[in-house]
Amino acid sequence: MKILIIGAGNVGAHIGYLMLFVDSIDEVLIYDIQKDILKGKVLDLSHAGGVLKKDIKFTVVEDLNEVEADIVVITAGVPRKEGMSRFDLLEVNTRILDQVIGGMNKRLIEESIFVIVSNPVDVLTYYFYNKTAIDRKRLIGMAGALDNGRFRYYLSKNIGSKITELESQVIGSHSKDMFCVFDNLGAEGRVELSKKETKEAGATIVSYYKGGSAYFAPAAGVKVFLDVILGNREETVSSVAILDGEYGYNNIAFGVPVEMSSKGIDKIIELDLDSSQKEELDRSIKGIKESLSFLKDKKILS
Ligand code: APR
Repeated sequence: MKILIIGAGNVGAHIGYLMLFVDSIDEVLIYDIQKDILKGKVLDLSHAGGVLKKDIKFTVVEDLNEVEADIVVITAGVPRKEGMSRFDLLEVNTRILDQVIGGMNKRLIEESIFVIVSNPVDVLTYYFYNKTAIDRKRLIGMAGALDNGRFRYYLSKNIGSKITELESQVIGSHSKDMFCVFDNLGAEGRVELSKKETKEAGATIVSYYKGGSAYFAPAAGVKVFLDVILGNREETVSSVAILDGEYGYNNIAFGVPVEMSSKGIDKIIELDLDSSQKEELDRSIKGIKESLSFLKDKKILS
């Protein structure tokens, strides 16, 4: 099994490292425009394989156009910095995604499973779909695995339950408007606090790092997807997916629970939402709609 990681920054390099702990990976190919940093990270990861006694080959990709891979993970992009508006980040990262798409060969787009990590992930996942016309089943945006993991952490901290025993979901937008779904078990105040902390989690990390955004937890989210895709783990995960009528939406991507297999997304699971929950979901994705309109107004998206 070959994995191609595009973007060898904090998130991409940590995903590369975690590949040492995923069964059935033979080769990890990594591409970045910063060639020396790329070479250093690939060599460092190769050394880690030696240390951990893992026969995984790490390879520098010189030219994206020449590679083939089973799964492509895209992390190329600028991380959110303090004070950067949603639209600023969006414009920069759509340009970077354009370069990535333009650099890839047709076969890669036609055959591989793509995992988008670059932010704003819901908008960029739709952008990638719009520009490549890829089969939506092979296109996965990584957000819910991360947000739900954070939610589980805060619920565990505030309620005192074990992380492994919590059943929660995070759907909708990967932003402060995300929709955290959890039966409050009579602990409403502490669940509400956990939701608040989860919604602020990304920004909290940004405020501490001063010049970068989270990378351990996003990389862990990608590992969960790969484990599910490779059959090492059985789980319903929340993924950014292209909607085709599900939840009453078309021509948009946002976080929904999905069943995944080696072919990508097999099925989008439609939660049975009551009217107030449906309203919360609608509110959650308002920002995604605004971002798509922004790109359309600027003629960046058709
Ligand atoms: N092609 C390939 N790589 C690129 C390109 C490009 N056109 N443009 C930028 N990159 C690379 C940079 O050289 C850098 O190594 O993308 C990498 C981004 O790494 P970081 O700046 O460390 O950012 P990181 O924290 O990894 O976040 C990357 O993931 O979680 C999201 O919001 C985050 O959008 C951001 C992305």
